[in-house]
Amino acid sequence: MTDKLIIFDTTMRDGEQSPGASMTRGEKMRIAKALEKLRVDVIEAGFPIASGGDFEAVRSVAEIIKESTVCGLARTGYADIDAAAEALKPARSARIHTFIATSPIHMERKLKMEPDEVVEAAVKAVKRAKKYTDDVEFSPEDAGRSELDFLCRIIEAVISAGATTINIPDTVGYSIPTQFGETIGNIIERVPNSDKAVFSVHCHNDLGLAVANSLAAVMNGARQVECTINGLGERAGNAALEEIVMAVQTRKDYFPCTTDLDTTEIVNCSKLVSNVTGFPVQPNKAVVGANAFAHEAGIHQDGVIKSRETYEIMRAQDVGWSTNRLVLGKHSGRNAFRTRLKEIGFEFASEEELNSAFTQFKELADKKHEIYDEDLQALVTDNMQGQEEKIKLVSMRVVMETGETPMAELTLSIDGEETPGRSEGDGPVDAVFKAIETLVSSGCDLQLFSVNNITGGTDSQGEVTVRVNKDGHVINGRGADTDIVTASAKAYINAINRAYSISSKIHPQV
Ligand code: KIV
Ligand code: ZN
Repeated sequence: MTDKLIIFDTTMRDGEQSPGASMTRGEKMRIAKALEKLRVDVIEAGFPIASGGDFEAVRSVAEIIKESTVCGLARTGYADIDAAAEALKPARSARIHTFIATSPIHMERKLKMEPDEVVEAAVKAVKRAKKYTDDVEFSPEDAGRSELDFLCRIIEAVISAGATTINIPDTVGYSIPTQFGETIGNIIERVPNSDKAVFSVHCHNDLGLAVANSLAAVMNGARQVECTINGLGERAGNAALEEIVMAVQTRKDYFPCTTDLDTTEIVNCSKLVSNVTGFPVQPNKAVVGANAFAHEAGIHQDGVIKSRETYEIMRAQDVGWSTNRLVLGKHSGRNAFRTRLKEIGFEFASEEELNSAFTQFKELADKKHEIYDEDLQALVTDNMQGQEEKIKLVSMRVVMETGETPMAELTLSIDGEETPGRSEGDGPVDAVFKAIETLVSSGCDLQLFSVNNITGGTDSQGEVTVRVNKDGHVINGRGADTDIVTASAKAYINAINRAYSISSKIHPQV
């Protein structure tokens, strides 16, 4: 019998640690719902002690998720563990994930603790977490650079204290697949009570080896992998969920385990996370990139027409790429709109929300006759962002004429009060951003501006991503519209709104 491989998603915790990827409570709730539909086993929803916003987000996810286990991260201090337990209270199935660093460099220079003190703190934390839930995970942070003897010692101690999952993180992405696989095998063999826990891995991608390291660990006994949608995460990111899951499924002849995921939800999740964070997916990204199933070379196309298996190892529809992507048009009704959104993972909380999104859909359908899933995703993201935002775009007029200086006039609603502003600029987008700044003086420093078309054709919506720096925080904003200057205004306003809502957060690894 093949074992089950537990899929632990940390998009909303480690993924959120990517500069600019912070998510609002509402966004986390949407992502959590999509992950539940994907049938991931564990959803790490955040680090509750990090900020009031994180606490509330974990609590809201715990309230709505019924099928997956909801997990909260905590350092070993009791305040962290108690906050995680409190945030997870409403969960049907809750896990507390506690961690402390075990590498010589982290213990000496960061924690300034002796190894004995680290073991004691870990054991106390696990015992504290056990008071709240049976499901306790322990991670020796920077295990990839920790000494094997010490790892075995601390792992044995925390399993005796009640830890049910032992997660081995390659925190800085330093490991090499064969060596990491062997380490996992050695730990499982040497720790006397290793049969009392599930072994897990959590790999970072600094050398581009996160997925390879995770799979090597699976071949050596790991039965949980921690990963993120699109490989989002600190620095170069974490192991990509879609790559792990499809490797195990496609090569079931090789791997000794299977996952319970509904892989047809993968593309939806990928698009949602990209949409919410404003991190585009590179076209050649495995499984979820736009070109992942596109054949350009004539010889390949010919082969695929004769027999798909000649050049394809997976079927596009098995990961959720639909062949018939045209979904709705200007004559589609409210019910068709609601149904299609439900199919791609959106559910409206109220009739009011549905009505507001439907009005925008009709406006879009007037400008753009063919509405694709990607358009719907962008529309709903914009709509939901809009409801949470302090500043909203009410109207805009931009004048551009050859030889003349571009000029923008706009009205913003700021805390419900409409205020007009005007500015000239080097180009239409510059004029718009300056006009916005005359009204809000946000203090945001623009660092990146990029435009992508959401679908093909000149009537496609443009999706604009901006990245700003505000007081040392990197923040992404996004906006979509058939007019790219309007999309730019929406993206910039979105970034400013996010900048206002970011409260200072404790970073988990400090
Ligand atoms: O990379 C890491 O070590 C982590 C731990 C908190 C598991 O994210
Ligand atoms: Zn990590």
